[in-house]
Amino acid sequence: MSFDQGTGSLGSVIAVRGSRATAVFPFGSASNAVRSRATVGKFVGILSGASLLVSAVTDVTLKNDGGNGVSQPSTLATLDIIGEIRNYKEPGARFVRGVGDYPAIGDSVQLLGSEELRIIFDKSNSAVIEIGRLQLDQELKAYIDVNEMLSKHFAVLGTTGVGKSSAVALLLQKVVEARPDLHVLILDVHNEYRSCFGDRALALSPRNMRLPFWMFNFEELIDIFFSGRKDFVEEIDVLADLIPIAKANYNNGPAVASRTLAVKRPDAVGPRYSVDTPVPYRIADLMALIDAQMGKLENRALISHYKRLIARIESVSADPRYAFIFERANVGGDTMADRIGHMFFKSHTGVPVTIFQLAGFPSEVVDSLVSVIARLAFDLGQWSDGGKPLLLVCEEAHRYISADRTLGFGPTRRAVSRIAKEGRKYGVFLGLVTQRPAELDATILSQCSTLFAMRMTNDRDQALLHAAVPDTAADLLSFLPSLGTGEVFAFGEGVALPTRIRLSRLAPHELPKSEAVGGKALDDAQGVAAIVNRWRGGREGDRASEPAPTPGELTLAF
Ligand SMILES: Nc1ncnc2c1ncn2[C@@H]1O[C@H](COP(=O)(O)OP(=O)(O)OP(=O)(O)O)[C@@H](O)[C@H]1O
Ligand SMILES: [Mg+2]
Repeated sequence: MSFDQGTGSLGSVIAVRGSRATAVFPFGSASNAVRSRATVGKFVGILSGASLLVSAVTDVTLKNDGGNGVSQPSTLATLDIIGEIRNYKEPGARFVRGVGDYPAIGDSVQLLGSEELRIIFDKSNSAVIEIGRLQLDQELKAYIDVNEMLSKHFAVLGTTGVGKSSAVALLLQKVVEARPDLHVLILDVHNEYRSCFGDRALALSPRNMRLPFWMFNFEELIDIFFSGRKDFVEEIDVLADLIPIAKANYNNGPAVASRTLAVKRPDAVGPRYSVDTPVPYRIADLMALIDAQMGKLENRALISHYKRLIARIESVSADPRYAFIFERANVGGDTMADRIGHMFFKSHTGVPVTIFQLAGFPSEVVDSLVSVIARLAFDLGQWSDGGKPLLLVCEEAHRYISADRTLGFGPTRRAVSRIAKEGRKYGVFLGLVTQRPAELDATILSQCSTLFAMRMTNDRDQALLHAAVPDTAADLLSFLPSLGTGEVFAFGEGVALPTRIRLSRLAPHELPKSEAVGGKALDDAQGVAAIVNRWRGGREGDRASEPAPTPGELTLAF
């Protein structure tokens, strides 16, 4: 092993405070070329006993006045100590985070050479993915510890157009190779990820996804029926009363229930269901229950609520855009295991990635849909005791878990927060992506232990990151506005040091691209007709400009 890239001594430590040291680099102590590299954002080593304390240079100042006990012009540098190479210069040299022994006044400071960097970023002992090159030394590959990154969640943050989605595509491509046991779920808000994974992903859209209404919990279902409107209190009460009866009637004996359609409380012997229990029932039975209950009423005002409720359920369940929820709503049958398998398990999908192409779903149901997906992901983790690890990647995360708690859909926020807080116990991991970090719920972001920060110019966004990263890394954040496209600062558990990485380039066919943009220009009458048809929820075959299904796009039946 050779450490001779070195670099020689730059100077020595003159003050130590906590994990922060001040060093003075007298002019002439190193060649100009070396000295000029000892600047902010670089790493240096403090030789301290048998260890080399790895530190980030966070501040440099020129001192001409001979202050601090030096009589010649010198550079004063502030160094944040991040970790140490133990047994430095010995065969067993290895890097650990944090420091055992602090430096002493007079300890020598040197630039880190390639060999030191190699030891720091050497991840041969753990599962790693290579995602690019270190900006510090382009010869060195940048590795991320995949298990650390996943199990403590991660976030990709940056202004629009800096390469977040490309970074996510790159990370996920590597993650699925490194963790064959993992199933990745992508909430693809702009329908842009399908091209990134070739035939290793299943893309789900309303055309091929079926999520029966009875798999939604009560809040989610209410949101679908009433689109978040608040003036349906009586109607909601009626549903809260009758849905459990419809479930019990159906599950205790569908044949009897469909003949009698009585508003009878289920037998005390049969299982009881709550409004949220995910067991099948039929919309026709529910409607019949509402109708029967209405028949017994004398109060006209109340009757009008029942009528309004029936009209609402009828119109929503017959809306072709909602067919993926209500198709076969009156047939029944317990398809839950099948549905879940086809969305969440590689053993069923045959591929390690499921892409929920949310842009294709009616915007009114996207909130509920995301809530169901996040909720099911967590529940599956819990019920499988972590035996089926899942990674939920959430693009435009600020939409679902906004800093302003009054915004967004409560159940979605709760479902995502639950994964952030407890998911790791059950093998359910979270990857958040946003262009507006300041609008993201800070407590959820703080659960993400690996952060990939890309170019960010907004002060509020940067301030939020300051709160989220450790002190030793905070000074590096001042570089964020100057990062190029495809460059990222990686912080936290997944990386050895907070470091600037130039991400590997993706081939053009692997880049995320919006299918809406990629389509043909719709400038003729036929194009407009195709748009109108989609709008109305036209089904397959009616869509002139629909891209042909890829091998990963299966058509799933109930
Ligand atoms: N790793 C990369 N390899 C190749 N090209 C890249 C890479 N990263 C970014 N680019 C280029 O930058 C463009 C924008 O990247 P991308 O769509 O990932 O940005 P974004 O931050 O997700 O943008 P938005 O905020 O609009 O979602 C890409 O279309 C591509 O041309
Ligand atoms: Mg993007």
